[in-house]
Amino acid sequence: MVDASLRREKLELTRRNFLSLIGWSVLQVSGVAFGLMGLRYFWANTSAAPPTKFTIGRAADAANFSETVPYVDVAQRTAVWRRGNTLIAIWLKCQHLGCTVKIVPTGYNCPCHGSKYDQNGNVYAGPAPRGLRWLGIAVTPAGNLQVDKGEQYAPLTPAAYYHIT
Ligand code: FES
Repeated sequence: MVDASLRREKLELTRRNFLSLIGWSVLQVSGVAFGLMGLRYFWANTSAAPPTKFTIGRAADAANFSETVPYVDVAQRTAVWRRGNTLIAIWLKCQHLGCTVKIVPTGYNCPCHGSKYDQNGNVYAGPAPRGLRWLGIAVTPAGNLQVDKGEQYAPLTPAAYYHIT
């Protein structure tokens, strides 16, 4: 015949084992999770860079760009204006720390630290060290107008103008 106190001790031992098992399981799952997080450091923390070239329309429609209201590619932060029989593309990236400048009647204003640019993108106030970058515009073999952020110019640089034919 088994003593009642011995039976209770076995029951407590079982409960202790169960709690121990739970504790070790939590510890092992946590260890695996932290291990996987550690492995994450072996992969570069980069995302694919956006393309530097983008299409703004057909070359045959170049004369339809406005001289008063720019075509703005929000994702590329670029404004395209027609100036007579030319097109210009101005990158709306502030030349101080890279904020997106706002188009205003006098030109462009940076909301971050107050740089101000005239309508050509020349800086006239604020901490920006230079004017907004003008971007190259070219026609692709398929007849599209393509802006290239890899081709940057100071404001009013003759090579930055696309001449409408
Ligand atoms: S980022 Fe434009 S003024 Fe600083």
